[in-house]
Amino acid sequence: MLKPEILDTFAQLLEEAVVAGEPEPTAMNLATVDAAGRVSSRIVLLKGVDERGFRFYTNYESDKGAQLEAHGQVALCFHWKLLRQGIQVRIEGLARKVVAEESDAYFATRPRASQIGAWASLQSQTLPDRDTFEQRYERYEKEFEGRDVTRPPHWGGFVIEPDMVEFWYGAEYRLHERVRWSRHGQTWTSRLLYP
Ligand SMILES: Cc1cc2nc3c(=O)[nH]c(=O)nc-3n(C[C@H](O)[C@H](O)[C@H](O)COP(=O)(O)O)c2cc1C
Repeated sequence: MLKPEILDTFAQLLEEAVVAGEPEPTAMNLATVDAAGRVSSRIVLLKGVDERGFRFYTNYESDKGAQLEAHGQVALCFHWKLLRQGIQVRIEGLARKVVAEESDAYFATRPRASQIGAWASLQSQTLPDRDTFEQRYERYEKEFEGRDVTRPPHWGGFVIEPDMVEFWYGAEYRLHERVRWSRHGQTWTSRLLYP
C-alpha cells in the first residue's frame, strides 16, 4: 500500500505538471526485464493512481505483457521539465494485472476507434505490411457494427505496486534535492540522497 503522504505528493506534482502545460504529463517510461535479464523500456500513459499503485493499460500478449507475466519487477520514470526547476519521479515495484471488471470499466470509456484498434493490433508481433493492419481493423469494425465493442481478453490493466518512490527536485547549480521513499513490508521510510 502506498503511504498517503507519497500519494498526495505525487498527485500534487501531477496536477502542477498539467497546469504548467506539460505536453504529456501522464507519460511515463516503463522498464521491464525478460527471463534472461535483458531490460527494455517504452512510454505508456498513467491512467490512475491510488493506494495500490500506478495503473496503465496495454496488450497482455505484447512483449511488455509477456515480460510482466514472467517477471513482474519494473521501473517507472516520469519527467516534468516545465514544472518548478524540473521534476523527476522514479518508481520501482511489482506489476500485477488488475481485475477484469476494472479493465472492462476503463475500456468502455475509450473512443470506439481505439477499442477496435485494441482488437486489430497484435501488439509487438511482426506486421507484414500496413494493409494487413487496415484489413484487420475493417474486419473488427464490421464484426462490431451496430453494437458495443467488448474488451478483448488479451487487453487490460496492470497496477505497479511500488516498494520505492523517489522525488527529484531540480535546483540551481545541480544542487538537486532527492527524497527517496522505501518500503519494507508495510512500513515506508524516507531519506535524502546526494544528487
Ligand atoms: C506518448 C506515448 C504513449 C503511449 N501509451 C501507451 C499505453 O498506454 N499503452 C501501451 O500499450 N502502449 C503505449 N504506447 C506505445 C508503447 O510505447 C510501445 O510502443 C508499445 O506498447 C509496444 O511495446 P512492447 O513491444 O515493448 O510491448 C505509447 C507510446 C507513446 C509514445
